[in-house]
Amino acid sequence: MFLTLEGMEGCGKTTQQRLLAEYFIRHGHDVLTTREPGGSRLGAELRRLLLDPAATDITREAELFLYLADRAQHVATVIRPALGAGRMVLCDRFADSTIVYQGYGRGMIPARLAELCDLAVAGLWPDLTIVLDVDPETGLRRALARNLSTGAPDESRFEAEDLAFHTRIREGYLTWAALNRARIAVVDATGTPETVFDAILRVLEERGRV
Ligand code: TYD
Repeated sequence: MFLTLEGMEGCGKTTQQRLLAEYFIRHGHDVLTTREPGGSRLGAELRRLLLDPAATDITREAELFLYLADRAQHVATVIRPALGAGRMVLCDRFADSTIVYQGYGRGMIPARLAELCDLAVAGLWPDLTIVLDVDPETGLRRALARNLSTGAPDESRFEAEDLAFHTRIREGYLTWAALNRARIAVVDATGTPETVFDAILRVLEERGRV
């Protein structure tokens, strides 16, 4: 199974990815956890370019193609081989991030971005995508607290975007999920990590994935 986690900054993707990996490993699966941007060797370089707070002059088109390059390389060299070897892949962000951030966030056309993503992933879409939904104020507060505690100000380019941008991201995820109900499930992520994880497990059960 190829499962991706999506949502705005501070929605708790990283924690849920860890809990899911632990759960599936306990149940005997061989699990690969990975993320975008930065899940391949080339991607690590691209991640540095994309998340550099000083890179304010990157155009939205250039940004788009860097994310797509990251994804193309990630799918071809990491994700597809892992799935081919029978492993389960849990990925923190994937094509839906491009559709939501570059589309609903930056104003490009979502359906067109979906086509470009399809080209980048060579037709490999997740079996299931979980969107962790929080209101923008909560998400930004959590992301800020995390950055202060980990001292990671170098990855704060997107978090510096204003509340209006993050509101568009949240709404964008909800709109896109509603258009893709067969693949994308929305989970309320305002509770504790444990309650959110329980809600994710319920979705997996409902969809016959556990
Ligand atoms: P990251 O530090 O991974 O953020 P998070 O912990 O919230 O996942 O940074 C990834 C940033 O890149 C995040 O702000 C979303 C953005 N992004 C896009 O704009 N488009 C994309 O296709 C992807 C994968 C990420």
